Amino acid sequence: MSNQQAVLVAQISDLHIKAHGKLSYRKVDTLGALRKVIARLNALQPRPDTVVITGDLVDFGHESEYQTLKEALQSLDIPFWLLAGNHDDRQMMRRVFADQPYLFQQQEFIQWEGECGPLRLLALDSTVPQQPQGALCAERLGWLAERLSAEPTRPTLVMLHHPPFISGIGHMDRQRLVNPQALAEVIARHPQVERVLCGHLHRSMHINFAGTLACSAPGVSHQVVFDLREEGIANFCLEPAGFLLHRWTADQGVITHQCVIDAFDGPYPFYDENGLID
Ligand SMILES: [Fe+2]
Repeated sequence: MSNQQAVLVAQISDLHIKAHGKLSYRKVDTLGALRKVIARLNALQPRPDTVVITGDLVDFGHESEYQTLKEALQSLDIPFWLLAGNHDDRQMMRRVFADQPYLFQQQEFIQWEGECGPLRLLALDSTVPQQPQGALCAERLGWLAERLSAEPTRPTLVMLHHPPFISGIGHMDRQRLVNPQALAEVIARHPQVERVLCGHLHRSMHINFAGTLACSAPGVSHQVVFDLREEGIANFCLEPAGFLLHRWTADQGVITHQCVIDAFDGPYPFYDENGLID
């Protein structure tokens, strides 16, 4: 298997950008975190072919926040694709990113199809204006079913902000996708779906879903506290932030790596001239 045939899709999520570097929740430097992940992605060898950003691009849906985001993304040397999350505002997102034609493929919803080499990208809009939970109506699911039927053998990543599964983190599950079964019914009919990729949870999780694998990405700035109590408090923390790197090859399909953004000690060699270091 040669590296040349691999397609690399980086997934970053939940940027929660505020205007001009204002801290989110008076604590988190989300713009600084975005700059760090951009530097990390630009420096990766081999460099990812594309970057998908699975929603919560900004924190309050303000035009000024999208402008700050747009400026920061200018230093990303890799093509990127935007999805809407529950913190986003479709109108403001389109106004500031008017130069991203895929955002206008559908009228009401920010749903789009794109591609990265042989891989097909299908983005759903699971947002409900002014609400934290997600939903997919018949129109949105009908679009997905039609798009999947159009290219039934092409490997495809389906993406949406809200995960179609229960995480076990009580306060996040109370703002879940309300009708995951309806999505599952569509996905199950289309075995070319290599992954269902989400954000929202600010933690990485993986689960069998409708004959494929559904994954959520960690946050690029703050993480949701790991707390599986039903009544656990809605808290975030500054555990190591991360992103997912999906590597596709024709003979194996997709393997998903979780990567941290900050630098840590190392690398150190396993071996020296005498073999494995004792
Ligand atoms: Fe988020």
